[in-house]
Amino acid sequence: MEPVGAARTVAPSQLAAAAETCGRVAANIRRAVEVRDGVLHSLLVALLAEGHILIEDYPGVGKTALARALARSLDCQFARVQCTTDLLPADVVGTNVYNQREQRFEFRPGPIFANVVLVDELNRASPKTQSGLLECMQERHVTVDVHTHELARPFVVLATQNPIELEGTYPLPEAQVDRFLCRLVLGYPSASGEAEMLAAHESGDRVRELEPVVRRDDVLAAQDAAAGVFVAQPLRQYIVAVLDHTRQDRRVELGASPRAGLMLLRAAKARALLAGRDHSLPDDVQALAETVLAHRIVLAPEADSGARAAVLADALAAVPAL
Ligand SMILES: Nc1ncnc2c1ncn2[C@@H]1O[C@H](COP(=O)(O)OP(=O)(O)O)[C@@H](O)[C@H]1O
Ligand SMILES: [Mg+2]
Repeated sequence: MEPVGAARTVAPSQLAAAAETCGRVAANIRRAVEVRDGVLHSLLVALLAEGHILIEDYPGVGKTALARALARSLDCQFARVQCTTDLLPADVVGTNVYNQREQRFEFRPGPIFANVVLVDELNRASPKTQSGLLECMQERHVTVDVHTHELARPFVVLATQNPIELEGTYPLPEAQVDRFLCRLVLGYPSASGEAEMLAAHESGDRVRELEPVVRRDDVLAAQDAAAGVFVAQPLRQYIVAVLDHTRQDRRVELGASPRAGLMLLRAAKARALLAGRDHSLPDDVQALAETVLAHRIVLAPEADSGARAAVLADALAAVPAL
């Protein structure tokens, strides 16, 4: 029996509206940033699934540019946090300040209260600040001195970081990487793409010229449509079987968590919506498994780093799709 709420709830008009919203955002980002199709697609999946995005790559490949381009494309409140070792949790979440005239404390919200928050160079922040930030990403509210403040909707954190070997950085603990729906690796552009980029960008910052192309309500409507995509019960069982397979793998110390499964399910629904479907398929799960799960798996000490992708490929190959 299907649980309550599993009925098909995405109307064709909602599908069309969501496609329009995503198409506009993608086209706008492309005006300013050279980005691979797969990366842009994952970015939209995360946006629709109300997930947070970790962009990880070497310096100078366009991480910050991509995050700013997405933020500028949405007519939403945008905030940017540049991480340094002396950034305090209160600088991110906000703080109570004393109002002399009214003789009482009042809450001054931090940048985390914006709709789109770019957290640049996250692994330069101290562990304490990282954990403060990641906690409210999960909870979607902030508690300061017993008072709880709800965060805005939509709420998307785009965090960037350089690969962890760099000096003077604090690698995110596994439990915190798990808070991100997906980790995107941008990669270097193709030689022709890079030459084109040089030509297009030599005159200045193209991202700064971008104008918003969708309203906040359009984003919320597209997110609601994604949440309404139909998932048949066997597809949930399929996801659970894939997760379980990663936990049994001998190259793995810690397999994908139930939270990882939940995020994979939400992402699969978002991918279905982007494909113009009102229902999700095993194909959605397979296409997103690596993007959503790879960064959460903790490998056994003896496994080499390429094992991450292999673990997932093997799980998908071994578990029969419906
Ligand atoms: N793929 C790209 N598309 C467009 N511009 C890029 C790209 N990669 C780098 N740039 C340009 O190079 C500069 C550095 O990019 P930035 O986003 O700050 O890199 P990162 O954050 O990865 O260190 C920016 O001026 C940006 O416009
Ligand atoms: Mg940067």
